[in-house]
Amino acid sequence: MTTRAAAGPAVVILAAGEGTRMRSRTPKVLHAIAGRSMLGHVIEAASALEPEHLIVVVGHGREQVVEHLAEIAPWAIPVVQNEQRGTGHALRVALETMTERNLVTSEIVVLSGDTPLLTDATLVGLMADHAASRSGAAAATVLTVRLSDPSGYGRVIRAADGTLARIVEDRDATADEAAVDEINTGMYVFQAEPLRSMLGRISTNNAQGEEYLTEVVALMCQDGLDVRASQAANADEVMGVNDRAQLAQAAALLRDRINGDWLRAGVWILDPTSTWIDVDVDLAPDVTLLPGTHLRGPTSIATGAKVGPGTTLISCEVGERSELIHTWAELAVVGSDCSVGPFTYLRPGTQLGDGAKAGAYVEIKNSTVGADAKVPHLSYVGDAEIGEGTNIGAATVFVNYDGVAKHRTVIGRHVRIGSDTMLVAPVEVGDGAYTAAGSVITEDVPPGAMAVARGKQRNVLGWVARRRAGTTSAQVAEEAERNAPGRDA
Ligand code: UD1
Ligand code: CA
Repeated sequence: MTTRAAAGPAVVILAAGEGTRMRSRTPKVLHAIAGRSMLGHVIEAASALEPEHLIVVVGHGREQVVEHLAEIAPWAIPVVQNEQRGTGHALRVALETMTERNLVTSEIVVLSGDTPLLTDATLVGLMADHAASRSGAAAATVLTVRLSDPSGYGRVIRAADGTLARIVEDRDATADEAAVDEINTGMYVFQAEPLRSMLGRISTNNAQGEEYLTEVVALMCQDGLDVRASQAANADEVMGVNDRAQLAQAAALLRDRINGDWLRAGVWILDPTSTWIDVDVDLAPDVTLLPGTHLRGPTSIATGAKVGPGTTLISCEVGERSELIHTWAELAVVGSDCSVGPFTYLRPGTQLGDGAKAGAYVEIKNSTVGADAKVPHLSYVGDAEIGEGTNIGAATVFVNYDGVAKHRTVIGRHVRIGSDTMLVAPVEVGDGAYTAAGSVITEDVPPGAMAVARGKQRNVLGWVARRRAGTTSAQVAEEAERNAPGRDA
């Protein structure tokens, strides 16, 4: 017989506010750190509670927020709060929709969309505190935390016996209340029933003329309901982001958390303050990350690989023992034992085979470079296939664009492309063929052939003496002629 787990709570994330202090066209909760929006971080933490329903209250920039939700959490239910009349009003609108759609649960967890450092462990702890009592679950549990600087936050006011009495907003606080260092994180668990009736009773009698959700706490306490405070251990985690200075602070804290986890997992990060790793990155033990490295999107790096300094990888795959120095790469796949950089630009669709090299000032896009093939210096490779063991001479350009359309170039195995070859696509160079340096290749080259496509050299003797008389060049040329007469004849 299987036992069915108790139904999870409904989670309501308040995310309708404008976020005026961000001074941005992007809605506040969509600002991202570590490759995930603030809202996405909150949803990720909330998913640990296995919510029966996930409701997101949207308002400002709702089209953008709803579109983002459809991408990252299609199961989330957006509820529109047309006018932002306060956190209490936002939750009331959410509950009305839940009632209409018959989305009932006995517990409702309320979170804000602007707390990106929240972890699932803290939410699980909050739920446990809420449930743990001789008399059963409390009517409400408020997640609080002590802060050395509580300014800006709602303060938690306790009665003489230490029980929770009410929450007073920063702007409404007296000097005595403002001195209290325990603050409201804006995260709560409520029993649905008392919450519903209390939300109908809140006023707008405060400095902002808004319906404060915090008033529910005072009303419940006045009615003698069991309302508790659950203190979070980690103040950083519950930090709310209201402006960009706080966003940068949150980004740095998250960076440190992520880097700490990877260091403990065996990744060597020489300078964790200049190394930025997105949440979706996957690293093997014994990967080395050098200063100034940014790993973004779902990038994965295999064991023994060395990345950096000064390297950005966006949604890339890097094989074992490969080395990437001063590189910018996006949607590129790098095999094992490859050498990339310094100053290399790998664009989407680049695939380097095992042991391949892409050297200094090389740009590659939408191309396959075979195993042990080399593009060592100053080249552009676009829309090409390069066979294994082939060497592309310095300053070679794959001329893939005729001004209207892009064309492909196919280079065989163990080919030697001479320096400064222009490969005018569409064109093919057969296995084992050579091209002469400085050639403009417009026709296919058969296997084993040497293609020469450049003007024959002609030396016009004495030209400098005649046409540039009196210059230093003419003077040294005359000296050279005197010392070794007829040398250039
Ligand atoms: C709120 C709390 C405060 C707490 C702080 C923690 C209230 C009255 N105050 O203050 O006690 O210390 O969070 O960070 O609840 N929102 C809506 N609709 C609205 C208003 C707000 O969806 O009409 C959303 C916002 O988008 C935001 C969240 O609710 O995600 C909190 O709103 P915000 O204005 O940031 O509240 P604080 O002033 O920070
Ligand atoms: Ca806030």
